Amino acid sequence: MCGIIAVTGAADPLRILLDGLELLEYRGYDSAGVALVCSGDAGGFLWRRRAAVRAQSIPELHKEADTAPAHARAGIGHTRWATHGAPTEQNAHPHLDCSGRVAVVHNGIIENHREIAAGLDARGHVRTSETDSEVIAHLVEEHLAAGATLAQAARALLRTLRGDFALALVSADEPDLIVGTRRTSPLIAGRADGLGLVASDISAILGLTRNLVAIGDDEVALVRPGSIAVTDAEGNEVAQQLLQVGWEVEAARREGFEDFMSKEIHEQPRALADTLLGRIGADGTTELEELALGPHELRSIDRVTVIGCGSSYHAGMVGRLAIESWAKLPATAEIASEFRYEEPVVDDRTLVIAISQSGETVDTFHGLREALRRGARTLVVTNVVDSLMAREADGALYTRAGPEIGVASTKCHVAQLALLQVFALHLAALRGTMPASASARLAAEIARLPGVLEDVVGRFEEYRGVAQALAGVNDVYFLGRGLGYPIALEGALKLKELAYVRAEAYPAGEMKHGPISLIVPGTVAVVVATKGRLYEKVLANVEELRARGASVVAVCNDDDDTAPRLADAVLRVPAVPEALVPAVAVVPLQVLAYSVAKARGNDVDRPRNLAKVVTVE
Ligand code: M6R
Repeated sequence: MCGIIAVTGAADPLRILLDGLELLEYRGYDSAGVALVCSGDAGGFLWRRRAAVRAQSIPELHKEADTAPAHARAGIGHTRWATHGAPTEQNAHPHLDCSGRVAVVHNGIIENHREIAAGLDARGHVRTSETDSEVIAHLVEEHLAAGATLAQAARALLRTLRGDFALALVSADEPDLIVGTRRTSPLIAGRADGLGLVASDISAILGLTRNLVAIGDDEVALVRPGSIAVTDAEGNEVAQQLLQVGWEVEAARREGFEDFMSKEIHEQPRALADTLLGRIGADGTTELEELALGPHELRSIDRVTVIGCGSSYHAGMVGRLAIESWAKLPATAEIASEFRYEEPVVDDRTLVIAISQSGETVDTFHGLREALRRGARTLVVTNVVDSLMAREADGALYTRAGPEIGVASTKCHVAQLALLQVFALHLAALRGTMPASASARLAAEIARLPGVLEDVVGRFEEYRGVAQALAGVNDVYFLGRGLGYPIALEGALKLKELAYVRAEAYPAGEMKHGPISLIVPGTVAVVVATKGRLYEKVLANVEELRARGASVVAVCNDDDDTAPRLADAVLRVPAVPEALVPAVAVVPLQVLAYSVAKARGNDVDRPRNLAKVVTVE
């Protein structure tokens, strides 16, 4: 979590930092801060301002702009998602050393910070925050006092710090220089005419330059106006990894929508169309040339494990069902944060597919590394080109949904669903497990999905109307069977994270084995009751709920007369082949959660306690 931006060589570095922080705010919004490197008559000094007003810290910093020294050319900024220490101004970044001449901004967690802090305290340092990050500034202070340069101090940090981190450093004694380094957490550097930049995220600096360099694990970047040098931990210059960026800056803006989430819900048809572009041929064959895993490698696979977190995990559940039923390969879906510690049995005939919108989620990243360590073949499905995981895995498939800013995943989730299904068809074709005609029919139906979604997102206000009745509820069950179950899980997750309503997803057939005792008159159950193999069974489960007084909201097909007769309210969707229902039926559930959250006055783009990118365990 957290966002970093740093700039050098700018006429107005504060403006660049604050603009960048606004773009980074989705990564954390507990507090924010900036430090500028200034020169004065008595030599260089740092000017620092911080604010901790949840989701309002950046406007607070703007108010300080008039007091900023006019002659500053460089600075660092940070937006925080609290891990160690409360979201207070004192704990906000940048953190300074005792002399106030070194400043650091940090993402990630320094696992040995207690041990380091004990040593610093014993040596007389005065720490002023409860964070794990502040120790970094004091360690740098010691190295500089011993005669090191800022870059040498950063290399020394790599030997001392344990954990996952990305950090940017400035010193009043080297006023033009930004030093950036990282381990696991991402950090990039950029250069433009006379400008040097460092950021945790491409979107923060994309408006300034497309000349971007990925800083590697345990590398140190020395960024000066108009130049970047990258060294390894020993100080040897290394080749720079240039980054390819497909997005336009404008894509990251709200474009007149009330919030990013409603914009992104409406962008789902485009996200799907872009994701499918060139991947399904006119004859229904799949084309995944960029896969990097060749036919021979894919044919040698005898098992698939899909890993992911949150919405990506739910997409993985759908993907694994497609792989199993179309490519006839045993497939499982695992929550990445559990997979990593389960001693998974995977080998070079197992394909581990890591799904992550951001390509950075640390739980999924470590799951991927665990799979690599055990010799598995690996594939990443992500929305961010050249992201951390994309660079690590054997192959990468990109959803082309454009930047997703709202914390709740919407357009990336449906893009993941479709791309995983295209991949499942691809595997089935390679393995000869599906008649070509059946595969071509399904591929054609997948290709039609953007049009179907156009119709579905057009019903936004209709779904919103149904959701109004749920604005006051405190407990909701989401039920489904087969492919309806991951949809139910996704609907419940959305309602929890956005509306702060307790929501439980259950396989509908499992209710009678215990949870049905919780159903009392008025309990709300949202049931995925679209047509398919288990439709009759789901309706029988709905009857069981109604018999106990539940109030039922059914997600059902346009041409269905039966489910609506059993339900108190309906969220209608067009009929599509059963396998493709998730991408369609999830949309009304996104709108449901969105609408309940809005009715309760919640910030849908920045729900409490969350961040868009989860880079801590
Ligand atoms: O970037 P990732 O796809 O790896 O993120 C995984 C989850 O953190 C994410 O899907 C989260 O559950 C969303 N906020 C759900 O809307």
